[in-house]
Amino acid sequence: MNLQTLRDRVSEGMGEAQSADSEATIEAVRIKYLGRKGLMPQVMKELKTVAPDERAEVGQLANSFKNELSALLDSRRASLAPGADESGAAPFDVSLPGRWLRRGTRHPISSVIEEAVAIFGRMGFTVAEGPDVETGYHNFEALNTPPYHPSLDRKDTFWLDDGRLLRTQTSPVQIRMMESRQPPVRIVTPGRCYRRDTTDATHSANFHQIEGLYVDRDVSLSDLKGTLAYFAREMMGPDVAVRFRPHFFPFTEPSVECDFSCHVCGGSGCRVCKGSGWIEIAGAGMVDPRVFERVGYDPEIISGYAFGMGIERIAMIRYAIPDIRLLYENDMRFLRQFA
Ligand code: PHE
Repeated sequence: MNLQTLRDRVSEGMGEAQSADSEATIEAVRIKYLGRKGLMPQVMKELKTVAPDERAEVGQLANSFKNELSALLDSRRASLAPGADESGAAPFDVSLPGRWLRRGTRHPISSVIEEAVAIFGRMGFTVAEGPDVETGYHNFEALNTPPYHPSLDRKDTFWLDDGRLLRTQTSPVQIRMMESRQPPVRIVTPGRCYRRDTTDATHSANFHQIEGLYVDRDVSLSDLKGTLAYFAREMMGPDVAVRFRPHFFPFTEPSVECDFSCHVCGGSGCRVCKGSGWIEIAGAGMVDPRVFERVGYDPEIISGYAFGMGIERIAMIRYAIPDIRLLYENDMRFLRQFA
């Protein structure tokens, strides 16, 4: 093949490649010129028959054609990519407005936890955490809860095969904190709890509590009342009423139950407060001397209070949520309301 013929074939080939507009036509051009039985191998094979004064130039032209053609075919192929326009330009339009990334919203449970931590933070409490999988010792025994207590019953607690359990309350973190440090201790500890409750509008097998513990010299029940009343006002607003009723917990003495007035109906009675106008928010009391003895504190010198509040309960009255299950369904139409 002489130089002129090759030049003609080269410009033909580049033209065919330029106008190829489908996978199939691009591939056909490649086979025709670069394939095993295509033009290029033929040119190379015939090189020795080319007139000596043209041979070098034919060889060079054939080589550069090979490279240029395959580059052009690659770019034609790229221009077929989805979104590319017919000019083969970039497969996107830089002048289009950006795609909207939908922002998530804070879950009401997270909001209540964050706010509670901030409120207690202003009163000098720091945050502590403990494991969800607990020992029976930390969840019950060290909290002065005897083995015959109903909460140890198989049907009330999720026990694991290795003898540990899913904590039924955040109170075991009290024990862990007192085991590991000396008074004064002033901590809050938010976290998940697990009970084998049948799910209904106000119960869930998985729920959240925030535990508080303040241990020092001369801590009194009135300190506890003041702390919870301040928390109630900060969390629910100035109109909330707080009520304390005597109660029993194995690890506090005396023990109280703390109720907030129902924010949904303003105290007149509704579905959320089951008509009573009050909602049980926290169990609390003065740390039992036996608990102090277990962790090696001297109950003659040291006193303290503890409380454990239900996060979902607070979220429900704060946001007027009539059913606890709504908090766990991950329905964005519901959750987006609390942005
Ligand atoms: N742990 C108790 C409960 O889950 C609440 C509580 C905490 C009571 C701290 C007293 C002191 O019911």
